[in-house]
Amino acid sequence: MHHFHYKQNELCCEDVPVSAIAAKVGTPVYVYSHATLKQHFDAFDGAFGDVKHLTCYSMKSNSNKALLALFAGRGGGVDIVSGGELYRALNAGVDPSKIVFSGVGKSLSDLEYALSSNILMFNVESPQELLKLNRVAREKGRKARISIRVNPDVDPKTHPYISTGLKENKFGIGVEEAIRQYEKATTLNGVEVVGVSCHIGSQLTQTSPFVDALKKLKELIAQLAKMNISIRYLDLGGGLGITYDDEVPPHPKQYAQDIKTELASSEWTLILEPGRVIVGNAGILVTKVLYAKTSHEKNFFVVDAAMNDLMRPSLYGAYHAIQPVKKIPGERLKADIVGPICESGDFLAKDRLVETLAPEDLIAVMSAGAYGFSMSSTYNSRPRVCEVMVREDRFEIIRTRETFADLVRGESIPGFLGED
Ligand code: LLP
Repeated sequence: MHHFHYKQNELCCEDVPVSAIAAKVGTPVYVYSHATLKQHFDAFDGAFGDVKHLTCYSMKSNSNKALLALFAGRGGGVDIVSGGELYRALNAGVDPSKIVFSGVGKSLSDLEYALSSNILMFNVESPQELLKLNRVAREKGRKARISIRVNPDVDPKTHPYISTGLKENKFGIGVEEAIRQYEKATTLNGVEVVGVSCHIGSQLTQTSPFVDALKKLKELIAQLAKMNISIRYLDLGGGLGITYDDEVPPHPKQYAQDIKTELASSEWTLILEPGRVIVGNAGILVTKVLYAKTSHEKNFFVVDAAMNDLMRPSLYGAYHAIQPVKKIPGERLKADIVGPICESGDFLAKDRLVETLAPEDLIAVMSAGAYGFSMSSTYNSRPRVCEVMVREDRFEIIRTRETFADLVRGESIPGFLGED
């Protein structure tokens, strides 16, 4: 369920015509629906309402402060993977006691920053990280609450680039080694074991891999119990998929039901790290047609958004639906929607049946709320685009369009260049 609909042939976000936003702030622009964000967060969080749980929104999917503040206001925490994400989260008012820190390469300064912020838990991903965290905590006279991120070796049946819980993936620690690391952790006085965590992949369209992973975590917890190591938090990561095209992912209610059935215990606080399922279908990328051209019998619509603004099609061959902002009567034709970047891989859609578009027409790239802006770059020296949030008949800019001056901020020409 989302709030992007046509009213009299005009695509609207809630009660605002998308064309009105483009007229005010220009294109390309990311547009997010407040009602959709709120509904998706509540649907997910509410599905676990009858068990002890914490929804830690995975902010890598979209880290705009406005979204973080919205979810924090509804009781959410966040899953972070860098010092930068921690900074954003704290800056947006997220409660540090609801922050979990995952990631295979946490730097010394990341660990120090998170420790002094007193976050809920570090999801440790290697024996060396465990030792480093212990050392930092001892130096600071603190105890770091940890879980070990286990790699449960289950196949999430998703795109290989976004599957993370197979034994060939770099993430987490295998179950056998994890047991040794838990044992080690009990001898370190800078850390306190509080949880077990995993994240098996993203854009999953079935619940069975989650249930399989949970089974493995439960077995591990049982083994730990025999070693007198007790667990309070069970972090299942994120990964629930959404509909981009014709996928039929389980509803959060079903997902929650299957997990709760397998859980069958109220001993642990469940932690969930959803990203895409909350924000994916709550955002669109609006772009303007610059040129229509036909080359070697292939039709191209060159638009003002590019792979630097939305990387998913180029990187994963991901499908995003394309919709006209104003419905145009007449013939449809097969075309590629491409950006201005000097790479053949710069496309937003390939061989797509679309309206016969003309320069200045606006189109919406749908389902772009997750891993859209957050993966954008300034490649080809294209300033990062504007982001807007709509609430009913109002909208506000939540990130201004970058300027050319922003592009060179921090750069300098070394004095020795003048020596020639
Ligand atoms: N927790 C951890 C530890 C993760 O690594 C991720 C995503 C999540 C939670 C959230 O997963 P979600 O609920 O959003 O599936 N850029 C790719 C997706 C990469 C996901 C990386 N990790 C894409 O655009 O499809």
